Amino acid sequence: MTVGKRLEGKVAMVTGGASGIGAESARLFAAHGAGVAIADLNDNLGRQVAGEISAGGGSALYRRLDTSVEDEWREAMRAVLERFGRLDVMLNAAGVSGRGPDGATSPPIADADLDNWNHVMAVNATGVFLGTKHAIEPMLATGGGSIINISSIYGIVGSTNNAAYHASKGAVRTFTKSAAAQYATKGIRVNSVHPGFVDSPMTQAVHDDPERSATRLAQTPAGRFGQPMDIAFGCLFLASDESTWMTGAELVIDGGMTAV
Ligand SMILES: NC(=O)c1ccc[n+]([C@@H]2O[C@H](COP(=O)([O-])OP(=O)(O)OC[C@H]3O[C@@H](n4cnc5c(N)ncnc54)[C@H](O)[C@@H]3O)[C@@H](O)[C@H]2O)c1
Repeated sequence: MTVGKRLEGKVAMVTGGASGIGAESARLFAAHGAGVAIADLNDNLGRQVAGEISAGGGSALYRRLDTSVEDEWREAMRAVLERFGRLDVMLNAAGVSGRGPDGATSPPIADADLDNWNHVMAVNATGVFLGTKHAIEPMLATGGGSIINISSIYGIVGSTNNAAYHASKGAVRTFTKSAAAQYATKGIRVNSVHPGFVDSPMTQAVHDDPERSATRLAQTPAGRFGQPMDIAFGCLFLASDESTWMTGAELVIDGGMTAV
């Protein structure tokens, strides 16, 4: 391990890397010496983040990928390996809230829409399964790697809202433990990260609403919303060799929300 740059010589793929937590993690990984493959559906922002990293002297690639579609994973992974030759870190950060663009409160379960449920599960749960599945072969080829799956505090506790999101993030939490158990002896570590309320495009509509924002802040002992960088630093630790003995764990970064 090189102290200073903590990912020197490593290659990381970041889904959801065009925005919010994924974008900040991609930038941080690159600043710590990793080659970074950004995968997302937002081509403009994805290219922008990859361009920033390259302009700063880093090595980055943007690739369009719908993480819920397995054929697209095969193509995307081929492109990543063609460019970088290896994969050391897989950060599965792509996700959807399942709320409308206005951040609207979701209906109670009795009125919930099956298509919405299926979409949230497809991106948040199936997408993480596929990202983990397709990272394993290249990681085995080089003796191991680190898979980081972004869950949520709402993969640990429930709330009165957005049950599909909670179910999808709960799936990520326990899937991560199964994957960790299956590949622990092969040098592949798999951990989940559980952010609390973080300012990002996903939460902007809710955090811009004074009433809902105040409710969320009141639930957060630290008294402020998280920033994407608060989560990216946790991902950096899990990506680095500093966490070599950590697998199947839940890294909660929530300003104290689940402590009370
Ligand atoms: N912001 C929060 O408060 C918070 C809290 C807990 C967990 N999370 C989780 O963190 C992760 C990142 O969220 P964020 O807050 O940075 O939101 P964000 O909306 O800024 O980023 C999510 C990214 O995922 C991409 N994406 C969505 N569906 C995709 C698909 N099918 N294929 C590829 N890319 C897709 C989007 O285009 C976007 O760039 C998500 O998994 C989210 O559920 C966020």
